[in-house]
Amino acid sequence: MPAVVVVGGQWGDEGKGRIVDLLARKARVVARYSAGNNAGHTIVNELGEFKLHLVPAGIFYTEKTCVIGNGVAIDPEVLLGEISQLESRGIDTSKLAVSARAQVVMPWHRLIDRLDEERRGADAIGTTGKGIGPCFTDKVARRGIRIVDLLEPEDLLARMRAVVDYQNAVITGVYGGEPIDFDECFEQYQEFGQRLRPFVADTQALVVEALHSGEYVLLEGAQGSLLDLDHGTYEYVTSSVPSSTAGGATLGVGIGPTDVQRAIGVFKSYCTRVGNGPFPTELFGEMADKLRDHGKEFGRGEYGTTTGRPRRIGWLDTVAARYSVGFNGLSALALTRLDVLDGLPALKLCTAYEIDGEMVKTMPASPSALRRAKPVYEELPGWSEPTSGVRNFDDLPAEAQVYIRRVESLLGVPVDLISVGPEREQAIIVNPIF
Ligand code: IMP
Repeated sequence: MPAVVVVGGQWGDEGKGRIVDLLARKARVVARYSAGNNAGHTIVNELGEFKLHLVPAGIFYTEKTCVIGNGVAIDPEVLLGEISQLESRGIDTSKLAVSARAQVVMPWHRLIDRLDEERRGADAIGTTGKGIGPCFTDKVARRGIRIVDLLEPEDLLARMRAVVDYQNAVITGVYGGEPIDFDECFEQYQEFGQRLRPFVADTQALVVEALHSGEYVLLEGAQGSLLDLDHGTYEYVTSSVPSSTAGGATLGVGIGPTDVQRAIGVFKSYCTRVGNGPFPTELFGEMADKLRDHGKEFGRGEYGTTTGRPRRIGWLDTVAARYSVGFNGLSALALTRLDVLDGLPALKLCTAYEIDGEMVKTMPASPSALRRAKPVYEELPGWSEPTSGVRNFDDLPAEAQVYIRRVESLLGVPVDLISVGPEREQAIIVNPIF
């Protein structure tokens, strides 16, 4: 059986966890393949509300194996905290498998992330401050520490001896920061290794074995594709290697491109972004506040799961979305939070940018061109009826159906799934994905 990839199609926070939670029913393995605890999912099910940063959203199904693949940067303290929080609420974590090859977020990564943002001042990226960028930088520079190193104190000691002096020279020399205490760090991380030992596995073999025995494997992306190092709005991107795009999924768990059958892109029915960087359809004022605070009283407003920062809001940008459909090779879309648009008199879809008097329908590489881009909008009528109780496409208000069909035709991909609220059953399956 093939693997199915679920990616965020925009700048993150599209509601992937919610979609993975729904699709996980049919899969035997659910695997995270990139990024780290800069990501955050909120999942609401019959057991309550959960905020996950590293553990795959499939953990709520007891019979699923949940993999944290080699492509993920793991902060062991965060992972252990998440495991004990899940266990204290009665969730079985015994099917969690952590790749021995995954990189470890070390204290110097978090420190350098913060110091580097301070140094950038007004040009800061607006990172989540979780050390993810510096961790992947070290991976590529062959200075990383991997989960496997934490398991053997002698190996950890040797790896740390090879890198801590370098990191302290950077921290003190470049940034004027306080050096890392070697002994304290070594003690803490070797203890993390012992606590993580029961979860560490050969996850690559496990995923391949599931595929060979005819089971579905669901590959769960973190972050949005427009934060990708190559295709995103560089330099305001995240540094995950492998990338959070569909292409990164194979590298991040250790399978090949021919193993992937479908790539599902999760898009909000509008757009949000946290952190800095160009955002052509960004809205300000009353309309932005209205969309951001929809459902705020139920903890559902547009505020980051990881940092609590208010998210920037805008109309759905189909230029950026079409680009994302192309470089991810998306076969279908899942459109989330349609209910947030209920009650708006009119909706706008950005179909092109006007840049220096020219109509542009593809994503410019230049950040300054993107900043100058004026969105060209198509206006569609809104609907007044609430959609949160709708379970069939045909029962949606006619204007909502028109909006969705227009998105499909602008992007050239069918909308297979629509979510109209945070609960598991608040979803409309337009075409079955499995
Ligand atoms: P970093 O991943 O913490 O280095 O942050 C780099 C950029 O990616 C910043 O603009 C962050 O706001 C953004 N980012 C990272 N993770 C997420 C996420 O899960 N959702 C939305 N934006 C994110």
